[in-house]
Amino acid sequence: MQAVDVLIDYLKAEEARGKSHILLDDESREQLRELYIKARDTVRAPAKPKAAPPATSKPASEPAPQISTAVPASEPETPPARIVVEGESREERLASLRQQAENWAPARAMDSLRDTMVFAIGNPEARLMLVGEAPGYEEERRQEPFVGPAGRKLDDILKAMGLSRETVYISNIVKFRPATPRQTTNNRKPTPEEMAVCLPFVMKEIEIVKPDCIIALGGTAAEGLLKLSGSVTSMREKWHAIDGIPTRVSYHPSYLLQSGSGNEVKRKLWEDMLAVMEKLGMAISEKQRSFFLPKS
Ligand code: URA
Repeated sequence: MQAVDVLIDYLKAEEARGKSHILLDDESREQLRELYIKARDTVRAPAKPKAAPPATSKPASEPAPQISTAVPASEPETPPARIVVEGESREERLASLRQQAENWAPARAMDSLRDTMVFAIGNPEARLMLVGEAPGYEEERRQEPFVGPAGRKLDDILKAMGLSRETVYISNIVKFRPATPRQTTNNRKPTPEEMAVCLPFVMKEIEIVKPDCIIALGGTAAEGLLKLSGSVTSMREKWHAIDGIPTRVSYHPSYLLQSGSGNEVKRKLWEDMLAVMEKLGMAISEKQRSFFLPKS
């Protein structure tokens, strides 16, 4: 058994005991990082073009080579990656899409994205689809979108709307956690390049699920999905469209977690949700309409 297997067994046992964090000193962290880079490079090393044999490799007895004008045969080119969705039901088609996302060469070739895919969660028949930016530490660990602190906030928002994770479809523009140097539990926003590489999958998810309404959670998701730029404030309070599907931009749930985002911001986000509920023809009670309004 190699040292790395012992380490993996130890970590699994700790996780089974309910631990989600391990304290590491700088040296251990550095050693783990080296191990990770070595493993990653072994898996991802692209096939190198075969080098031409050196001119001196021919036996001396062979006749001198003739000068030839023939073009040397080039390496066959790898065809561009294509998504082909198979299956009858939405569930089958999403499963086919998920499998291709897992092996998506353009994403796998990006060293800035980590290896574990986090695809989507929810109901393939959902009328409402929510799209965030990218998985973070907790999402990668559990391979499910929005299960960390921002996810718990999102659950609260859905509950206030009379919905749940099981009745909607939740996805992210980027399917792999964006990497950072010496990464532990820290997360970062995806870059435009990382979004562009995963966007075809989100567009296919929209095509398969066919929601009646989409919510882009935060400016990054809006930028990737709708090619908008600027502040969320400038994008909200109006309907946009993705493939003809009404789309609302609102604040990312993590914004509500930041200190200082009081009832005013909560009310704005809630007004976006009320607009979505109206669009979906959902019943809205007086109590729901008055959430986060200043007390008179
Ligand atoms: N933030 C996101 O945008 N997506 C997640 O899945 C988690 C946090």
